[in-house]
Amino acid sequence: MNKKTALVTGITGQDGAYLAEYLLARNYEVHGLKRRASLFNTQRVDHLYRDPHDPRRSFVLHYGDLTDSTNLVRIVQHVRPDEIYNLGAQSHVKVSFETPEYTANADALGTLRLLEAIRLLGLEKSTRFYQASTSELYGKVQETPQRETTPFYPRSPYGAAKLYAYWITVNYREAYGIFACNGILFNHESPLRGETFVTRKITRAASRIALGLQERLYLGNLEALRDWGHARDHVKAQWLMLQQDEPDDYVIATGEQHSVREFCEKVFLCLGIELEWRGKGDAEQGIVSRFSPTPLLADCEAHCEVASLERGKVLVAVDPHYFRPTEVDTLLGDPSKAREKLGWQPETSFQQLIDEMVFQDLHDATREAICRRDGFPITASCEASF
Ligand code: NAP
Ligand code: GDD
Repeated sequence: MNKKTALVTGITGQDGAYLAEYLLARNYEVHGLKRRASLFNTQRVDHLYRDPHDPRRSFVLHYGDLTDSTNLVRIVQHVRPDEIYNLGAQSHVKVSFETPEYTANADALGTLRLLEAIRLLGLEKSTRFYQASTSELYGKVQETPQRETTPFYPRSPYGAAKLYAYWITVNYREAYGIFACNGILFNHESPLRGETFVTRKITRAASRIALGLQERLYLGNLEALRDWGHARDHVKAQWLMLQQDEPDDYVIATGEQHSVREFCEKVFLCLGIELEWRGKGDAEQGIVSRFSPTPLLADCEAHCEVASLERGKVLVAVDPHYFRPTEVDTLLGDPSKAREKLGWQPETSFQQLIDEMVFQDLHDATREAICRRDGFPITASCEASF
């Protein structure tokens, strides 16, 4: 059987890395769009890299950008993919308030540029298209749980850009017969999650606090509710959508909801740190009520010191800087259609997701502690805080 070829935008991101692995395991030839940067920026896919001189390689990266239609047309023409997965985007909601025009260019017009490339190259009947749509489309939710028929009400420049991308995907399906699907994915996380999304920010901070590398974690809205799944599960749904007889749009979610506060409590508990909350609103703080290192944390003592966290110590504080001008308070998806039509369901529980993320971040924090102790240079992160 001929190898299928996929083109993945956003291949250096969280989902891109999981999807690339998934497709390679299914014997695809995977082509990825990579933005040129002054550093490599390929950490998430380095394990998939093959020397360009290897004639049997199935993983190929191309320089390109969703804001540049010339390179998109050239790459689509060169690869002539069976499937395009458009995962590339400025994907941070808070950042989109600060870069609204760029977000619209990459997230909204970027989708149009790819669809136009398919049309201009006459690939309407041969190239299937997946659009990374989002639960942020529901924004100020009009019903709970949210399903495919729930009206949209985006609450950020990111949400508004993704709204355009959603509808232009539907339009190109109806106007030109392109096999184009929207996956309306609810939040999904993993050890590969970007460090400024709330789950990863919490798992990294808790691990570093437990090893004495960080004093405190500052967060925004602790009451926000999300339907958090695992990225590994969610990318399978992306693939399944393009394997159906007819193109359609699907909600992909766990159907379970938790607050930022609960996520935070469970993460610290994984390390044996019980938090209690005091104060209200902007003055709220999470303090240590009990600390007894779990075996996971105690094992680190073989390599480095574990912090002594006395009762009453403040580990979490609210910083209004992290509030958004308009917030999405609650998201909860109904994945019934995906379950019935795609046979998809999540395989990772909320607790398993947390355990996996904490395990990896504690490992990274241990490495940092050893390097600091032994005088090896540490790459400090200078990311603006979100
Ligand atoms: P991510 O980790 O932030 O990755 C985004 C990817 O897009 C990165 O590879 C990034 O490249 C690339 N990118 C950004 N701007 C680009 C541009 N102008 N041209 C080409 N590539 C560009 O995001 P993710 O969590 O994997 O999410 C994947 C997609 O699903 C995104 O479209 C996101 O909006 C959507 N989504 C995510 C979730 C979620 O919970 N994760 C839920 C629903 C929808 P660099 O590495 O160079 O930055
Ligand atoms: N990032 C961040 N940082 N969020 C915080 C913080 C903080 O310090 N404190 C509280 N939050 C709250 C946010 O206000 C939001 O309500 C919630 O935590 C989740 O924030 P993020 O993890 O940044 O994700 P998101 O829900 O805004 O967006 C993600 O999910 C969307 C799908 O619903 C992104 O992956 C989007 O690309 C994706 O479309």
